Amino acid sequence: MKDLIRDITNRHMALTESLDSALAPFAKIRVKEAEAPPRAEELVRPLLAWLQQGLLPHLVIEDDLLRPYAGPSDVGDDAIFNRVFTEHDQLRKLANEARQEINLLLQESSIREAWWDTMELSAVWALRREWASHIDFEHRRVLPRAAALTRLPNQS
Ligand SMILES: [Fe+2]
Ligand SMILES: [Fe+2]
Repeated sequence: MKDLIRDITNRHMALTESLDSALAPFAKIRVKEAEAPPRAEELVRPLLAWLQQGLLPHLVIEDDLLRPYAGPSDVGDDAIFNRVFTEHDQLRKLANEARQEINLLLQESSIREAWWDTMELSAVWALRREWASHIDFEHRRVLPRAAALTRLPNQS
């Protein structure tokens, strides 16, 4: 379990790094440090790849790993682990909304200008905030509790 927790923590760091790298051009446009491109295909590709190949498989791995710890009573440990699944569902929903937003950006040139201007409210940034809050919860509450429940002598 200890190795697994280290793997998950490292994976969170790598995923956060690749997400921020994918979002860097969006952030520059958002603060007007860069012009919005006339076509957005290149710009959105790393973010779409992150959603599909980074986020979604990670959620499945964690769901499988933590499901044995979740229970029906929504109190104590059950509440901690059940909250993970609720947050995973929320991340999937935001990922879906972010993909729809990106598709609109790619397909509807008429809304493109307005879309760039309202990025503060978009699902893309909501997903970034939810991701940060979720991995913080996992590091503070979920992973230590899962480790303690395994009762291994060398657990930290
Ligand atoms: Fe998670
Ligand atoms: Fe995670």
